[in-house]
Amino acid sequence: MVELSHRPLRELVASFGSCDRYYTEMTSASGYLACSPFDRWFMDCEPVPETTVVQLFDSEIEPLAKAAARLSRERSAAGRELGGLDANFGCSAPHIERSGGGVSWMKDTGKAAALISAMKEAAPGVVVSAKLRLGYEESGAALIGFCRALADAGADYLVIHPRLKSQKFRRSGKWDYVKAVAEALPIPIVGNGDVRDYDSYASAVGRYGTAGAMIGREAVRRPWIFALIRGKEADPGFEMRIEVEETGLSMIRLIRELLPLPFHASRVRRFFFYYCDNLAFGHHLRYAIQNSAGLDDAERLFRAYFDEVPSERVKIER
Ligand SMILES: Cc1cc2nc3c(=O)[nH]c(=O)nc-3n(C[C@H](O)[C@H](O)[C@H](O)COP(=O)(O)O)c2cc1C
Repeated sequence: MVELSHRPLRELVASFGSCDRYYTEMTSASGYLACSPFDRWFMDCEPVPETTVVQLFDSEIEPLAKAAARLSRERSAAGRELGGLDANFGCSAPHIERSGGGVSWMKDTGKAAALISAMKEAAPGVVVSAKLRLGYEESGAALIGFCRALADAGADYLVIHPRLKSQKFRRSGKWDYVKAVAEALPIPIVGNGDVRDYDSYASAVGRYGTAGAMIGREAVRRPWIFALIRGKEADPGFEMRIEVEETGLSMIRLIRELLPLPFHASRVRRFFFYYCDNLAFGHHLRYAIQNSAGLDDAERLFRAYFDEVPSERVKIER
């Protein structure tokens, strides 16, 4: 997730016990080929490179295939594993969609399938996936056709966020479409959208028959969500004692240590936009941090909140 799924977030999630698979922020293949100065951070797959998928976006096959080849060459030369490569067929941000990237790949099944074959060929032995939406209009047959073409082209698995191109987050996703694809295709289908707790995870896997669930915003809001789900899977009465202030301060430290200065203000604002949901008066703090001057200012505001409301330093999650 742009400005969110960077190494500091992965470090924070891992500190609670990790998840099965992580994703980088989506990264421009053309930018990477042109040696964009910030790619070092976009492509940083630590602390778990073997299970971190690099998500690439672009509008043409050639830069994406070349980026896949270069990345897999670089990683094997460095003796580092690549957790996977993902093609972004889901982003509906207007500037990405208008330029022919993201969800606009769903307009042309043949081209999208050709991209998957080209990435498989360019990065032999690397797991290749795609993340997509419902597309431009609701049609189970069209969605299954699109996904089948990707599977036939060699996609190892697919992640489906069942909202249309034009749908924002207000209405819930249509998971019946995920179920239909999971039933029709031989490859694993992962569902994504609105998984916020153990029950919605269990429903994604049980009721909708997916191979797993991708958790986006809730992993930012509650970086311990994966540990909580695992714990509840083993024992329905499982509880976690969360150091809410300390976890937020850890994120600030990680951003300071692991990301370059030009990223600090945007990343701290984005993270706390979601993380403040853990706090009873979080909307005031969220607003203040969105308008903060940078990392130090955000840290001062965050600490000051707990000086005023010390009872929120710790909470029990169940
Ligand atoms: C700020 C933000 C940035 C996102 N960036 C990406 C991205 O880079 N690549 C991607 O595939 N999806 C991206 N998404 C979409 C999420 O991956 C996910 O599909 C969506 O948030 C629904 O899942 P959730 O309910 O678990 O958050 C982004 C979402 C948000 C809110």
